Amino acid sequence: MPLCNKIKAGIIGFGRMGEMYLKQMMLDERWDIAYICDIDSEALSIAGQLAPDTTRLVSDNQILFEDPDIRVVVLATLADSRKEHLLKAIRYAKHIITEKPVASAIEDEWDLLHRLEKSPVMVTVNLPLRNAWYHNTIKEFIRSGEIGDLAIVRVCHMTPGLAPGEGHWAEGPLFHDCGMHYVDIARWYAESEFKTWHAQGIRMWNYVDPWWLQCHGTFENGIVFDITQGHVYGQLAKDLTHNGYTDIIGTKGIARMTHDFVTATVELHGVTQTRRIEEPFGDKNLDILCRLFAQSVEKGVMDPSLPKVKDAVIASEYAWKFLENAIKNDLPSRGTLKTLQAIRERRNTQRIGYGLLRKKK
Ligand SMILES: NC(=O)c1ccc[n+]([C@@H]2O[C@H](COP(=O)([O-])OP(=O)(O)OC[C@H]3O[C@@H](n4cnc5c(N)ncnc54)[C@H](O)[C@@H]3O)[C@@H](O)[C@H]2O)c1
Repeated sequence: MPLCNKIKAGIIGFGRMGEMYLKQMMLDERWDIAYICDIDSEALSIAGQLAPDTTRLVSDNQILFEDPDIRVVVLATLADSRKEHLLKAIRYAKHIITEKPVASAIEDEWDLLHRLEKSPVMVTVNLPLRNAWYHNTIKEFIRSGEIGDLAIVRVCHMTPGLAPGEGHWAEGPLFHDCGMHYVDIARWYAESEFKTWHAQGIRMWNYVDPWWLQCHGTFENGIVFDITQGHVYGQLAKDLTHNGYTDIIGTKGIARMTHDFVTATVELHGVTQTRRIEEPFGDKNLDILCRLFAQSVEKGVMDPSLPKVKDAVIASEYAWKFLENAIKNDLPSRGTLKTLQAIRERRNTQRIGYGLLRKKK
């Protein structure tokens, strides 16, 4: 594709996610990554080794917002600077792919949503589960009537992943940082709003915030849900493992999925058919997000299947509500900070673990 027809884009924040966006966008000839911006010189020097020679590395985001040729900006910093960047996107008319949450305080998220709704810029949020083939396969199966009426949505995501204090301080406790994805996908399945809830958490290793939380409740349309999420799943085990599933129960049949981060397996037990499908997991599905967003920019209309800011704000709001509820419902503590220290050392010194952030020199 001639360089002049490519979509000129910039990435702000070149940590774990920023690097994933760069690698994905370099595979798609529609994108020209003209800028990478980070306030950390180490991050910029890594970007210099990975990005095309034509990419400018900058520490001041103003340069890329003021460049009239830049049409899309990817926001992959932590949540504390998202509001400033989204307000600039409105001011300088840049389309946006943003990481979640949309801001670090829920009031700012609603404020941004209302401002973005009045602006012509297109914004999508990286809620990768919405683009996952396994969830879309199950949703299609539900729509076909094979499981009768959808009644129960059960979601579980437990890994020996990001431990307290390792990073992502601006995203809140784990159930907000990571749990909001599972809050969102439960609502996506139910196609209804949360009505009632009861949450239980635990302050693992005596850390101040819960790092495991389970919430159950109802949606307005009578569907019930349970969500279990925690990065407390055997960080010091000799061999690491995890437990992640979605279990969808209807009045007549069921559909479920599980994965090992490499392959996802969907099992469909409907009234006329039983199927088992195994496909590559897809991880963050950035290929789908970036492709659909490029098509949207080319057409001037956002693809309706792309995750919307409103969905991200609602998921964030309920993740906070479920955390607040857990705090009211007794919050016992097990373990000691010494164990947490051993976990951090194993993850950061020996580089063993799930979802490791880039190691600082
Ligand atoms: N959607 C998902 O599935 C998913 C998964 C992981 C992380 N995330 C989100 O992505 C975001 C980034 O996470 P990460 O794991 O890449 O974190 P990270 O700590 O690895 O990277 C953040 C980067 O942003 C840079 N940065 C911070 N403030 C900046 C600013 N004002 N201007 C420019 N650069 C700045 C930091 O120097 C760092 O290099 C977080 O908000 C996180 O919640 C989303």
